[in-house]
Amino acid sequence: MSTSNVVPNDLNAFWMPFTANRQFKKTPRMFVAAKDMHYTTSDGRQVLDGTAGLWCCNAGHARPKIVEAIAKQAAELDYAPAFQMGHPKAFELANRIVDIAPKGLDHVLFTNSGSESVETALKLALAYHKIRGEGSRTRLIGRERAYHGVNFGGISVGGIVTNRKMFGTLLAGVDHMPHTHNLAKNAFSKGVPEYGTELADELERIVTLHDASTIAAVIVEPVAGSTGVLIPPPGYLKRLREITKKHGILLIFDEVITGYGRLGTPFGADYFDVVPDIMVTAKGLTNGVIPMGAVIVSAEIHDAFMNGPEHVIEFFHGYTYSGNPIASAAGLATLETYKEEGLLTRGAELAPKFEAALHSLKGLPHVIDIRNIGLVGAIELEPIAGQPTKRAFSAFLKAFEQGVLIRTTGDIIALSPPLIVSEIQIDQIVSTLAGILKTLE
Ligand SMILES: Cc1ncc(COP(=O)(O)O)c(C=O)c1O
Repeated sequence: MSTSNVVPNDLNAFWMPFTANRQFKKTPRMFVAAKDMHYTTSDGRQVLDGTAGLWCCNAGHARPKIVEAIAKQAAELDYAPAFQMGHPKAFELANRIVDIAPKGLDHVLFTNSGSESVETALKLALAYHKIRGEGSRTRLIGRERAYHGVNFGGISVGGIVTNRKMFGTLLAGVDHMPHTHNLAKNAFSKGVPEYGTELADELERIVTLHDASTIAAVIVEPVAGSTGVLIPPPGYLKRLREITKKHGILLIFDEVITGYGRLGTPFGADYFDVVPDIMVTAKGLTNGVIPMGAVIVSAEIHDAFMNGPEHVIEFFHGYTYSGNPIASAAGLATLETYKEEGLLTRGAELAPKFEAALHSLKGLPHVIDIRNIGLVGAIELEPIAGQPTKRAFSAFLKAFEQGVLIRTTGDIIALSPPLIVSEIQIDQIVSTLAGILKTLE
């Protein structure tokens, strides 16, 4: 295809998200097309997608069923009001999500992003307790090194200092558990690392400090993705489930990355065999193609709201685009694609190959840890003294030049290829990285 006239002349107006804008605009990296496992750059090069876009294009790119569904829906019913009106596809999609969700999670609230799904879940938790006469439960517990999007609730329960420090005092009444990442004890673990299960008991300490009667919910990512693939120790999430249940605290899993097949199971909840009260999802729900999130909740929570006069709104929350028809059509086509191609479990088949390939990088310069679970992996690099993030960022730039898209966070390289990736493509990603690691400053 011709790509000669697709790069805008002036890049100034668009203030890009989570991007080093000045660096980017000096040497832009533009994608102009994508198909299956590859992007096409504006200078006509093919780049292998090692990150499923931003952990979201789980079925790869430009998948025919999804493309057709979006086009058809746009022509048939482009928009329907989300409040006090409905359209069939939103209901159908909610049912299909419930079909693949862990047993017991059977109601869906739609949003437009992971961040909005997080806010929705936190508000739901607060309202749930209030509606049941436990309005003193207002405290929210997150975790260090957690990423729950960029809105105020999410950055409050999140644990990334750069995302928090500019924005004032955030939500009141939030506490954090420690993260579980332990390089000293767990470096180069394959799959779930051995040490750190007892860190779940920090929740008991927090409960003792504040009293259970003040705590509404605990939110965790089953595997923290954005801060560099932090995998929980064995039994850690089960222990959180026991403690939350014992104290009447809701457990929220933020499955924005772990949902829809990333770990080789439909959700992280399935992988770790722990059912939360609320599951936050987005990204892979529509294969990243149209913004959409889904918050999946237990009947117990849903039913608690279904009281009072029938003409009265039960939960004062929602978005203009909640369950948008085109997003719903994209979601349905995405779930069909996952089903037809067995993608929700393909990660489990590929995990041993992915693991072996990643761990072959052990011993290369700067590599201080390699970790993996399902089709997510991370290679942690020793930072350049006094210049954190620089080494990994330069790996990212080199990989892009050499035709592979990776993602970096701090000095950690994260990989999460689309679930359609082939073994040969896994080798290509890893051998490109091997070459780069040998030449990095
Ligand atoms: C665990 C988690 N929660 C929430 C979000 C926010 O999602 P979004 O960028 O769609 O708002 C992300 C995004 O990476 C995420 O990884």
